[in-house]
Amino acid sequence: MAQIKAPRGTQDMLPANASKWEEVESTLLATAKAYGFREIRTPVFESTELFQRGVGDLTDVVQKEMYTFEDKGGRSITLRPEGTAGAVRAAVEHGLLNDALPLKLCYLTSCYRYEKPQAGRLREFHQFGVECLGTGEPIADAQLILFARRIFDAFGLENIHLELNSIGCPHCRENYYNALREYFSAHLETLCETCRGRLEKNPMRILDCKSPVCKEIAAQAPVILDYLCDECREHFETVKGYLDAAEVPYTVNPRIVRGLDYYTKTVFEFICDDIGAQGTVLGGGRYDGLVEELGGKSVPALGFAMGLERLLMVLEAKQYAFEGDAAPAIYFCNIGQNALRLSLSLCDELLADGFAADLDLMGRSLKAQMKYANKIGALFTAVIGDDDIAGDCIKIKNMRTGEVYESNVADFAENFENLVIQSTLFEGEVENNG
Ligand code: HAM
Repeated sequence: MAQIKAPRGTQDMLPANASKWEEVESTLLATAKAYGFREIRTPVFESTELFQRGVGDLTDVVQKEMYTFEDKGGRSITLRPEGTAGAVRAAVEHGLLNDALPLKLCYLTSCYRYEKPQAGRLREFHQFGVECLGTGEPIADAQLILFARRIFDAFGLENIHLELNSIGCPHCRENYYNALREYFSAHLETLCETCRGRLEKNPMRILDCKSPVCKEIAAQAPVILDYLCDECREHFETVKGYLDAAEVPYTVNPRIVRGLDYYTKTVFEFICDDIGAQGTVLGGGRYDGLVEELGGKSVPALGFAMGLERLLMVLEAKQYAFEGDAAPAIYFCNIGQNALRLSLSLCDELLADGFAADLDLMGRSLKAQMKYANKIGALFTAVIGDDDIAGDCIKIKNMRTGEVYESNVADFAENFENLVIQSTLFEGEVENNG
């Protein structure tokens, strides 16, 4: 029968890489926790309207990239293209904003965008995101950026630079939109069809169109920094002042507009030049109108998300030393059925005590069992035969030093635990969560 392949733009996470993902995710969650963020998990699919209203119906994401379908009940459903809209919807729906603010949420989620797959750009990808709801203070923008930097520090990454911009508020955009309309009108014939449709209602979206022709025209378009209202300008200056005081290096890039409609004021991206064209590892900013847009009270907010596949690409490019899979503490090799029964219960006892323990499940010969124990890097092996059971003496071999120890059956777990404690050579290598 013909083999079935994974859909284009998706990636299987194979066991060989699982420990890397685990390590990255636990570092991210631990860092977020230290900053007071608590995890939220929302559904992988939402009502399509959430993204049309939240992300914006003239964005590339909503117009071109969403996985939208009708369910059997005739509802329009969309696989989440990003995490912010769902997190804000859940916060509003469950009244989380009635508690003490700011509300700090974080998440690890899969996201779905029908994009042209290439290195660092997938149709199913994963984000680590954080959202801080309830504060409009510039200090919150600065701390969020410091937090993002802390993450890169936690992985020892220095080759990532921060680009910063302010895209103002609806008030400053009135004049800016007029300037954009005037500029783009002169290029109307050359713009792609989607952008022609954007000109009247939301000309800022033309600035992040992926079409090379639109990109070229957009490169010379007026920038919003020249149109900021007093409040937005002051906010931006204050954020920059805090970053300067904290000695955070950044570049103001007036061309950063972000691809999602909800952003206001500060926006930022962390970019790595070592992983090709899709170098934006993390992006975020303030979105002061989104909570209200999604039916909540008028509450300012901000956040960011980082692409985990891109972070892993950066870590691989930098040859980051992952801890790797922990070797099993002990592997039981058996000769005969009695030994197998005993191994099963001893192994189970050690597993209950928190040790990574395993036994032969393949009916292999003793030689093949020892070979397998070596292959999986077991730190100790116990070889059990009928004679050992009769003599109540089980031999435990330290696979690194070759030393052999003995234990009776009744005290096996306790003796093994002591052996591990004494065997300082393997300190930290033996998994014991007990
Ligand atoms: P975004 O810039 O669309 O922002 O996505 C955030 C990050 O997700 C990007 O910087 C990139 O690393 C990763 N990413 C995006 N698309 C893909 C893709 N097709 N393949 C692989 N990685 C991708 C947001 O999604 C906002 N919700 C961020 C945010 C949170 N803003 C405020 N709070």
